[in-house]
Amino acid sequence: MTIAVLASGNGSNFERLVQASREEGWAVPIALLVTDRPGAPVIERAKRLRIPSQSFSPHTFADKATYEEAVFHVLQLYDVTWLVLAGYMRLIGPTLLEAYGGRILNIHPSLLPAFPGLDAIGQALAAGVKVTGVTVHHVDEGIDTGPIIAQRAVEVNETDDRASLTEKIQAVEHDLYPTVVRKLVEEHKHTHHTS
Ligand code: GRF
Repeated sequence: MTIAVLASGNGSNFERLVQASREEGWAVPIALLVTDRPGAPVIERAKRLRIPSQSFSPHTFADKATYEEAVFHVLQLYDVTWLVLAGYMRLIGPTLLEAYGGRILNIHPSLLPAFPGLDAIGQALAAGVKVTGVTVHHVDEGIDTGPIIAQRAVEVNETDDRASLTEKIQAVEHDLYPTVVRKLVEEHKHTHHTS
């Protein structure tokens, strides 16, 4: 049993997850980074942290199913039982949803169902809300629509701009995501003795 993190970009959540898993000695380790963007900065973080990473270029595959089958093949090599999405900018398709049903998690920088999709922080600023936040949820076939697991609120002050709000939200993400991932994965491990 292992965890794979799927990411497309910067990878600050990936790094925090790896750090927390090591500091806290998680029962289920993070064994692999999968990225759909070969030049993504998250790959350098994986190298520095000595986590194996596998990059895919989705456009080189015939279709989404073929791409996800290739990803699934690598996931099986690493005995991956949980997928943790951290800035993975792509919808999960039927291939991975069926293989990992109920064991795919995502983090989103808003209080869902408000502001799903791209640029949730920009959406919150444009809407002028006084409170936004962070949501961890199960992944289904929709865009940020799966069952909500945990949420934490972040206040938006008069003086906040994109940079300051992003900083506050990311600080909350880095605290919340490792806590929630560990809890779910370890609870599941204890209730599923065969795996
Ligand atoms: C986070 O804000 C997360 O909520 C969203 O994408 C961002 C990823 O940031 N899904 P990072 O790459 O982990 O720094």
